[in-house]
Amino acid sequence: MNSKEVLQLMKDRRSIRKFKPDPIEDEKIEQILEAARWCQSASNRQPWRFIVIKNKDTISRLKSAAKFGGFVADAPVVIAIIADKKQSPNWYLHDTSMVAHQMCLMAWAMEIGTCWIGSMDRAKAAAILELKETEHVTTILPFGYFYSKPSSTLRNELKTMVTTIE
Ligand SMILES: Cc1cc2nc3c(=O)[nH]c(=O)nc-3n(C[C@H](O)[C@H](O)[C@H](O)COP(=O)(O)O)c2cc1C
Repeated sequence: MNSKEVLQLMKDRRSIRKFKPDPIEDEKIEQILEAARWCQSASNRQPWRFIVIKNKDTISRLKSAAKFGGFVADAPVVIAIIADKKQSPNWYLHDTSMVAHQMCLMAWAMEIGTCWIGSMDRAKAAAILELKETEHVTTILPFGYFYSKPSSTLRNELKTMVTTIE
């Protein structure tokens, strides 16, 4: 893939909130997890683990924790990105946010959709997932094939965000 194709992948990616019920092949889930594994992290601490949820009942319980993510219930697979606060107290949120985006891009490259779930009752999600005290749910990502690509979301122009110091 050349740099233009990488940029195009990044531009094409959209948040998907409507999923087909079709299951996702295990090899593709593995590839998404592999993309996560190779993410960079502060001091290479890799303060994360992933819970792959295929169980319908657990997915439906997680839906009740996602404030703006009722669509989670329709995804055939949800991956919870769990940060270990103790392992990297200053950077666990940065590290696991990068992991999430890495997963989003890899999924998109395989025509699988996902969407960040930011607004969440994290205590409830932690209880459902039986997390340890030191763990934090950064996000849960629902994955599924999608019916159609949503129309482009807008982005601000570069000139509104870039300053160059020569
Ligand atoms: C940190 C973060 C939290 C988000 N939380 C939610 C959410 O709770 N529910 C939702 O439907 N979308 C959520 N999104 C998706 C954004 O709404 C979406 O990325 C944005 O509107 C741009 O659209 P695009 O991803 O299709 O380019 C979140 C995205 C990020 C990065």
